[in-house]
Amino acid sequence: MQAPLRALAITAAAAGVGAAAYASIVERNWFTLRRYEVPVLAPGAAPLRILHLADAHLTPGRHRLMSWIRSLDTLDPDLVVNTGDSIAHKHAVEPFLAALGPLLERPGVFVYGSNDLYSPIPKNPLLYLIESPDQARRRHVPDLPWADLGEGMAAAGWLDVNNQRGRVKAGDLDIEVGGVHDSHIRRDRYDHIAGPTDPTADLRLGVLHSPEPRVMDRFAADGYDLLLAGHTHGGQVCVPGLGALVTNCGIEPRRVRGLHRHPAQGEPDRPWLHVSGGLGTSPWAPFRFGCRPEAALLTLVPRIS
Ligand SMILES: [Fe+2]
Repeated sequence: MQAPLRALAITAAAAGVGAAAYASIVERNWFTLRRYEVPVLAPGAAPLRILHLADAHLTPGRHRLMSWIRSLDTLDPDLVVNTGDSIAHKHAVEPFLAALGPLLERPGVFVYGSNDLYSPIPKNPLLYLIESPDQARRRHVPDLPWADLGEGMAAAGWLDVNNQRGRVKAGDLDIEVGGVHDSHIRRDRYDHIAGPTDPTADLRLGVLHSPEPRVMDRFAADGYDLLLAGHTHGGQVCVPGLGALVTNCGIEPRRVRGLHRHPAQGEPDRPWLHVSGGLGTSPWAPFRFGCRPEAALLTLVPRIS
């Protein structure tokens, strides 16, 4: 190889190694809190703070992640919503509940994601970018303690809305909540919760792990005001200037994370949608690039009339 070409190859290799080290060591632990104001409440209602957690994929030993989650209690949220993929190891339930810590004393709501049921399997990390839902659906027998995880949150008083509806009081509000199990692995049973929402509730909240449009269309048709989902990891690897390459579900890259509406276009009163970019990654794809791990504080305020 000629000297200029050799220098170019060495520089490219060094840049690749540097980017990989940054993505796996620095950015993966560079947590950020995103704040949004959502004009969804009735005129005159007091603001309500919702802390949205998703995709922790916790393994024992991730102490920085655990202590950061625990620190979010200082935000004084009125309600905590966990949209799943909380654990990634058979011994992660206790550490996850310990990380929630004081947050468990607040009103809470949860659904599962596929990774709460199935342990992560070794694979080429780049497959994250091309994985199809069919690959995830091939496994049928859960091998993670998802029931212990749910029992831990439910024992603290959090509402389990996996294919269920319920009611939660948070702040001054009476909130109707409907949720589904993970649609990414076809465990959603929207028919179990189908039906018009209660117009007398102060807020109608839909909770789901994966923001699949076919499911969100049904939440919208039933009159939910706000939908919360995770799963996408914000794309996990984002190209500067281009953004996310994949969403790993049916939603388009433009709504891979952040506050939008569903459907993306249509009537002015269609539901708000917040997709969390998530707190973690699969242990077998331990990197994030251009897409910092996050939690979100949604401050709900009165609608703009
Ligand atoms: Fe996830």
